[in-house]
Amino acid sequence: MVEKNSTLKLIENRRTIRAYSKKELTQEEINTIIHGAMRAPTAGNMMMYSILQITDQDIKDKLVKTCDNQPHIAKAPLVLIFLADMQRWWDYFSISKVPELCEEIGEKFDTPQESDLLLASCDALIAAQNAVITAESLGIGSCYIGDIMENYEIHREMFNLPKWVFPIAMVCFGYPRGDKEKIPLTSRFPQKFIHFKNKYQRLSEEELTEMFQNSDRKIVDKKAKNMGQEVYLRKTGADFTKEMRRSVKAAIKVWLSENDE
Ligand SMILES: Cc1cc2nc3c(=O)[nH]c(=O)nc-3n(C[C@H](O)[C@H](O)[C@H](O)COP(=O)(O)O)c2cc1C
Repeated sequence: MVEKNSTLKLIENRRTIRAYSKKELTQEEINTIIHGAMRAPTAGNMMMYSILQITDQDIKDKLVKTCDNQPHIAKAPLVLIFLADMQRWWDYFSISKVPELCEEIGEKFDTPQESDLLLASCDALIAAQNAVITAESLGIGSCYIGDIMENYEIHREMFNLPKWVFPIAMVCFGYPRGDKEKIPLTSRFPQKFIHFKNKYQRLSEEELTEMFQNSDRKIVDKKAKNMGQEVYLRKTGADFTKEMRRSVKAAIKVWLSENDE
C-alpha cells in the first residue's frame, strides 16, 4: 500500500453517519456538495440524473415512513434524492425533432429501455458518491437510503416524477452528533474474495466460510443458525426487500410501457 495522503485517509475513515447534530449546513456547503456531485464522471457527458433536494419537513417526515421507518431521515439537515433521469434527454430529442429525423433516414426511434435505466442509474449513483466524498471533506457525514426504491407509486406522485425518472438512491447529510471516530469502522471481506484477475472466480464452500471469519457481523435473529440465514432473514428476504422488488418491477413496467403517461 502507498503512503496515505489526505484523500486516502478521508476514504479510509468514512463511516455512515445516522445521528446528526442540529447544526444546519450553509448554502455554500450545500452548493459545494451539489457541485462535487456534478463533477462526477458521467456516461457520454450526458448527466442522465437529477438531484432533488428535500427542504420541506413534512416530506422528510413522510419519507421516514415510505422508506422503511428510518427516523434519521427526518432529522437530517440535508436530504438529496438522486434520480436516474432519461426524461430530460427524451424531451430534448422530441423538441429537436429526432423522431422526424429517424423517419427521414429510415431509422427506428427507440424510447428508453432497461439499459438506459441502468446507465442513468450508474450516472446518478456515481454523482451521489461524489457528493458523499465532497461532504466528508467538509466534515459532513452521510447515510445512503436504498429504501427510496420502495413505494414507487407513492414517490412518483409525491415528487411529480415522469415515466423516465426513477429514484435510485437517497442520501442524508449532516454534521455528526458526537464524536464520529467513536463509531467503529465496519469490516470488509478480505480482498482475495472480491478482487479477481481476468476471470470471475466462483467461491467454494470453504472459501465462502473463510470469507466470514474476522467479520464484525453478528447473528441477531433467533431463527438464524448461521450468518447466511441471518443475512437472508434480516436483509435479502425481509419485508422491505420484498417491497423493493415489487416496487422496482412496477417502475420498470412504467418505464417500458407504450402509453405516454
Ligand atoms: C445502496 C446503499 C443503500 C443503503 N441503505 C441504507 C438505509 O436504507 N439505511 C441505512 O441506515 N443505511 C443504509 N446504507 C448504509 C450501509 O448500511 C452502510 O454503508 C454499511 O453498513 C457499511 O457501513 P459504512 O458505510 O459505515 O462503512 C446503505 C448503503 C448503500 C451503499
